[in-house]
Amino acid sequence: MKITDALLGEHGVFYAQFDHLDQLVPAVERVADIRTQAALLGAALATHANIEEELLFKSLDPHPEAAGPLNVMRREHQVVEGTLGQIPTVAELDQSKELFLDLIEVARQHFAKEERILFHMASSLLGEAKLGELGSNWAKRRKVTV
Ligand SMILES: [Fe+2]
Ligand SMILES: [Fe+2]
Repeated sequence: MKITDALLGEHGVFYAQFDHLDQLVPAVERVADIRTQAALLGAALATHANIEEELLFKSLDPHPEAAGPLNVMRREHQVVEGTLGQIPTVAELDQSKELFLDLIEVARQHFAKEERILFHMASSLLGEAKLGELGSNWAKRRKVTV
């Protein structure tokens, strides 16, 4: 299995969570509940971003054509990580909701860019065999049997 297919499957699960949180967050009444939800989503987003960076982005680094998109993707990972770190420090409920909903929107747009640009680029620059090898590494990291 290609790593790009594995990552697309992960995006699909995140989209379901993003849609659920878009509905849920506006009705939340305690800042502690926003922090709990953000920590839960953040733990999953962090492993997704780490796997992308350590397996896919690293393999694309030797290809100069990928440098621009990789810079954007890495910067967006940092923005998401930074916002996730900021949420627990915010005491005001509305501000905390706004930060969390903004983060979800940034992540959604980031995923769409990976799908439209980066994963296609990876396909043409790395080829089927390399994507398959990276897919096996992904399965080991995620502890799934393929
Ligand atoms: Fe990403
Ligand atoms: Fe991704």
